[in-house]
Amino acid sequence: MRHFWRLLNLGLLLAQTGAVNVNETSSAYTFVNDRISFNVIKNSGYIRDLLFDGISVLGNLSGNAGQLYTDFPGNAFALTGSAEAKIITGRGYAGIVLTDNDTTTGSLVQRSWFLRDGETGLHSFVRLAYHNDTVPSKGELGEVRTMFRPNGGPWTTLVTNSEQWAPIPGPEAVANEVQVQDATWYLGLTPSDPYVQQESDYFTKYSFADNQTNKAHGLYGQGPDGIPIGAWWVVNQKDTFFGGPFHVDLMVDGIIYNKLSTNHGGVSNPNVTNGFDRTFGPQFLYLNRGHGSSLQQLLTDAERYADPSWNVEFYDEIAPYVHGYVPSKSRGSFSASIQVPHGAKDVVAILSANGVHFQDSATDPTAYQYFTVDVQDGIVNFDRVKAGTYRLTIAASGIFGDYVQDNIVVKPGKQTHVKATWVPESAGVELWRIGTPDKTSGEFRNGWERDLTHPRHPSKYRIFWGAWDFPNEFPGGVNFTVGHSVEGRDWNYVHWSQYGPTYTRTDTVTNINRWTINFEIDPLTARKLNAHAVATFTIQLAAAKTTSGNTDVVQGAYPNFPLNVYVNNESEPLVWTIEWFESSSCAERSAISCHILSNKLQFPGTWLQEGHNSFVLELPHAAPVYVQYDALRLELQ
Ligand SMILES: *[C@@H]1O[C@H](CO)[C@@H](O)[C@H](O)[C@H]1NC(C)=O
Ligand SMILES: *[C@@H]1O[C@H](CO)[C@@H](O)[C@H](O)[C@H]1NC(C)=O
Ligand SMILES: *[C@@H]1O[C@H](CO)[C@@H](O)[C@H](O)[C@H]1NC(C)=O
Ligand SMILES: *[C@@H]1O[C@H](CO)[C@@H](O)[C@H](O)[C@H]1NC(C)=O
Ligand SMILES: *[C@@H]1O[C@H](CO)[C@@H](O)[C@H](O)[C@H]1NC(C)=O
Ligand SMILES: *[C@@H]1O[C@H](CO)[C@@H](O)[C@H](O)[C@H]1NC(C)=O
Ligand SMILES: *[C@@H]1O[C@H](CO)[C@@H](O)[C@H](O)[C@H]1NC(C)=O
Ligand SMILES: *[C@@H]1O[C@H](CO)[C@@H](O)[C@H](O)[C@H]1NC(C)=O
Repeated sequence: MRHFWRLLNLGLLLAQTGAVNVNETSSAYTFVNDRISFNVIKNSGYIRDLLFDGISVLGNLSGNAGQLYTDFPGNAFALTGSAEAKIITGRGYAGIVLTDNDTTTGSLVQRSWFLRDGETGLHSFVRLAYHNDTVPSKGELGEVRTMFRPNGGPWTTLVTNSEQWAPIPGPEAVANEVQVQDATWYLGLTPSDPYVQQESDYFTKYSFADNQTNKAHGLYGQGPDGIPIGAWWVVNQKDTFFGGPFHVDLMVDGIIYNKLSTNHGGVSNPNVTNGFDRTFGPQFLYLNRGHGSSLQQLLTDAERYADPSWNVEFYDEIAPYVHGYVPSKSRGSFSASIQVPHGAKDVVAILSANGVHFQDSATDPTAYQYFTVDVQDGIVNFDRVKAGTYRLTIAASGIFGDYVQDNIVVKPGKQTHVKATWVPESAGVELWRIGTPDKTSGEFRNGWERDLTHPRHPSKYRIFWGAWDFPNEFPGGVNFTVGHSVEGRDWNYVHWSQYGPTYTRTDTVTNINRWTINFEIDPLTARKLNAHAVATFTIQLAAAKTTSGNTDVVQGAYPNFPLNVYVNNESEPLVWTIEWFESSSCAERSAISCHILSNKLQFPGTWLQEGHNSFVLELPHAAPVYVQYDALRLELQ
């Protein structure tokens, strides 16, 4: 039995449902179960005074800190300051749905929180809707995020995933920090700080980002009783996000982020137009603790809930109150038997918006997504797929290109099965390749490579790029010889046009924009270099940054720039123009894969010759642009 409660008197016990109580005072609604209590503040709808086993996990209010809340870019959505609150109760749970219905603009923000008996966490949903005939477009949605934002409290450690975690820099380190980039500081002036000792001389929130394979991320620490404690955003359902598995975003920097929408890091965001109506979630803000529990144990415990089938009966029960949540009866299932090319590793399968690349799924603001990055034995199963029409993408490490199949229909309560045979793309005989096609530049120098000088051994790409001085490591730029050079040593994870200044370097180095690839053609192959021969040079990029950065607008001196390829002594280069809407600020934000791109440059086989050959990859000289190669190969037909 569930029912709405009209809220009447101060201090009234609104509901007692199993062991979840809701009380109202003049300023807040108080939710309590056996182990958790919190206040939902009436005028803002923000959560404060969150206690877990009596421990204040958010601390006290200071500015926006000390709260759990969602914020918006403001162009289309803003809180009215007088949200209508509905308290919902059922057997063993209670929740609140806060509706900010801005009838002066046509925007609607609906935030929902639910607390269950026996659980130490909060279920969260956010709905955004826009109905306005006279102003039918509000532009891009931008950044929407729900944040656990403590002010003090028991926290000592930032935790991105089981591999990436580090102590929170101490107050002395922060007091002596030197800014080196946006949101990035040199902390080396306090060498005894635990973060500096264990992780790096540089601190940036971007070091603690992750892609959408993340299951849970958060903060670890010790309660006043000395017992280890954790706070985690558990990403139990990802289907209402956009952009697929490789979209990289902030996870934790003291705040724990649940990013619902953004256009950064290999994802696009939907346009807000008349009729827009999307509900994000659920995600679960989970608290745990235990005598002697390690960080890994508390994280593993949190990750158990990162399963789209977890709590689905409960979500079905509250679906009537959470407008836009898709209940089980409106979902079907999808399975596929796939044959992948020889040599395919780490096989990925993605269902996403029909007809567009999975990173551009926000082109359809109603699109949902499902993916696995660990296909075993060619079998893919997605349960609980929202009814609709999808694109299937299959990708794998080691294979150039993707398998794509459109118009896959999933119906409620039905199973859709697909058989897919992925014939790898080919433009003739492969003469050589550099790198592993896997949508990252991780295998190159300073990518996944570990920094062995700090005991946490972070992957170098996670640390501020200025820590790995390119002009010292590669004077004049990369000069790579196929068959002799080694990717992890002789090819850098970023091709910079220019480099510096950084904390350790005052100048800007500009003679590094031309990289050389040397290769030999054997006599047998050389015999095929006749008038009919076509050579294809494929370049896959894990990211490219123009002066448009992450903005999605034409800006700066190089919103578009050419990536030129000179073949031997040909005077005219092959030109690939990277455009503003393809740009992402990737390496500067400590990422190894963002908006992925690829191109095939064709030229007459007669441009090649027996013996020594070379390509020069050229970026514009002295420009604030760069690319991150995923993999390159030369084929001959
Ligand atoms: C809620 O209100 C009831 C009735 O006034 C009171 O007995 C109870 O202690 C209150 N609980 C909390 C958590 O404030
Ligand atoms: C919150 O403020 C109270 C009163 O000033 C103080 O006793 C308490 O330690 C503070 N809590 C935290 C987590 O900082
Ligand atoms: C928001 O306000 C509009 C205009 O008054 C109304 O038509 C609509 O039903 C309201 N929506 C909700 C969810 O309250
Ligand atoms: C549409 O938006 C304009 C500009 O914000 C506003 O003046 C108008 O009242 C809105 N119309 C509706 C129906 O909300
Ligand atoms: C995604 O993130 C995981 C964990 O950080 C990492 O192992 C994996 O290589 C990443 N994949 C891509 C394509 O960036
Ligand atoms: C948003 O609208 C603009 C202008 O119509 C268009 O160029 C852009 O592609 C749209 N973005 C998405 C994600 O649909
Ligand atoms: C690249 O290295 C080769 C062999 O070491 C050398 O002959 C050549 O001059 C170098 N090219 C450039 C552009 O530095
Ligand atoms: C390029 O031209 C120079 C000078 O004419 C010649 O020595 C060299 O062999 C040519 N290199 C290639 C790869 O064609």
